Amino acid sequence: MVMMNAAVVTSFQEPPHYQAFETPRPAVETGEVLADVLAAGLHPRVRSGAAGSHYTSSGTLPMIPGIDGVGRLPDGRTVYFAAGDDVLGTMADKAVVDPRRSVELPDGTDVAKVAAAMNPAMSSWVALRRRVPLKPGQSVLVLGATGNAGAMAVQVAKRLGAGRVVGAGRDQGRLAVLIPAGADEVVQLTDDPDATASALAAAAAEADIVIDYLWGKPAQQAIMALLTARGDRGRQLDWIQVGAVTGPTLDLPSVALRSANFRLQGSGQGSVSPRGYLAELPSLVQEITAGTITVRANLVPLSDVGDAWTRSEIPGERTVLVP
Ligand SMILES: NC(=O)c1ccc[n+]([C@@H]2O[C@H](COP(=O)([O-])OP(=O)(O)OC[C@H]3O[C@@H](n4cnc5c(N)ncnc54)[C@H](OP(=O)(O)O)[C@@H]3O)[C@@H](O)[C@H]2O)c1
Repeated sequence: MVMMNAAVVTSFQEPPHYQAFETPRPAVETGEVLADVLAAGLHPRVRSGAAGSHYTSSGTLPMIPGIDGVGRLPDGRTVYFAAGDDVLGTMADKAVVDPRRSVELPDGTDVAKVAAAMNPAMSSWVALRRRVPLKPGQSVLVLGATGNAGAMAVQVAKRLGAGRVVGAGRDQGRLAVLIPAGADEVVQLTDDPDATASALAAAAAEADIVIDYLWGKPAQQAIMALLTARGDRGRQLDWIQVGAVTGPTLDLPSVALRSANFRLQGSGQGSVSPRGYLAELPSLVQEITAGTITVRANLVPLSDVGDAWTRSEIPGERTVLVP
């Protein structure tokens, strides 16, 4: 048996342990190869997979976490790749790469940046290209704009042609950073629901698209704040549900759907097909390597995966594990 080192989840209640694990065998007949992993991002999606709580989880243990990464192929090329299943992930010395789920990276690419940025950037890139294609000049509100994905959504919306982008989030310091990143206005979400509703209405009542990373109470309040303040309720408002940082459910008054041209949909694995995601990989890689979408990667040795799991994330940074 050929062994490698990997982050291994043996219980959904515990962080992964760095230990020896059998090296996976690629299905060479379908073109799969075994790559040396160079970097793998510790995204919220990776955490929920490793906790067995993501909606795609099969519940199989032991498992190696990691949904994507950057690897070096046997022929020497460096690629960004997405893992094929939820059991043998990317947080290991080696991982199976299906060429159909990979994109070659140009020489000199900052591999940590690509590993850090692809997942959070993909959330808005796919939402605004596959779910509700953004029309040039449209107005976008990013709800939950102070996280990695939210901050990138501001940049992505601008890059895809938005005329106005408003970022709404909790942390004032992180909100301030969004203005030089391209936001036209920011709104602070506070514990005062009336003040927050007024501020959201003033800044974003005429939004065409909302990219929502929060859900739960803040989204519930924001939906009603925007709809009731809208000049023309017949004008379409597309709400794209992307993350659920503040809760898995909300109470939606039926009147929200009757009294306004309000369209609610999500964007994620399932609502966008694997083929749809794969089609977006090359252009997104290009944006990240060109520096249009920025991210700060915090590099951690894979052997420290246990600590990395339990340490709180540095705001504005994405932990990237390096074998
Ligand atoms: N559907 C998709 O395609 C897709 C893809 C990638 C990510 N996602 C999801 O998107 C979400 C964000 O991902 P991420 O990578 O940006 O994670 P992240 O970097 O950890 O950001 C999460 C942010 O949420 C903010 N937050 C926490 N509680 C809040 C509250 N009560 N009100 C307002 N903001 C709050 C925090 O910012 P402050 O501390 O500054 O408030 C934090 O920075 C996750 O749920 C993730 O699973 C979805």
